[in-house]
Amino acid sequence: GADVQVDISAIQSGQMIRVKWRGKPVWIVRRTPELLASLSAHEDQLRDPNSDTEQQPEFAHNQYRSLKAEYLVLVGICTHLGCSPQHLTDGAFEQYAEGVAEGFFCPCHGSKFDMAGRVFQGVPAPLNLVVPPYQYVDDNTIIIG
Ligand code: FES
Repeated sequence: GADVQVDISAIQSGQMIRVKWRGKPVWIVRRTPELLASLSAHEDQLRDPNSDTEQQPEFAHNQYRSLKAEYLVLVGICTHLGCSPQHLTDGAFEQYAEGVAEGFFCPCHGSKFDMAGRVFQGVPAPLNLVVPPYQYVDDNTIIIG
């Protein structure tokens, strides 16, 4: 079928992997406790911190926009005109968002997203990055779709 099963057991803490789902890139990030703790610190810079625009399944209506806080699952397509944002780590994102060490930057027109896929203010992208439907089969396996 069109659903994609992914073994997430080999993803190191802090690492991101890319898979394909229905022809789209999907990112899976294993977020560190430090990263999770940092997400609330810049919410005043975000356009829609609580994802009221519903770019996600019902289960992701929480601070982390995910089923389990540790694992972020996102469609890796900019919500402006569909370019592929870059994952910037280790402080490389701070040039785009003060005090935010890690995030996603779209090189096409400069849209910026945090590590929950939430869009920053003042950029062309209108919406947070999309959380696709997915579920856990067991602790090490998710199915997207
Ligand atoms: Fe990403 Fe325009 S497509 S900012």
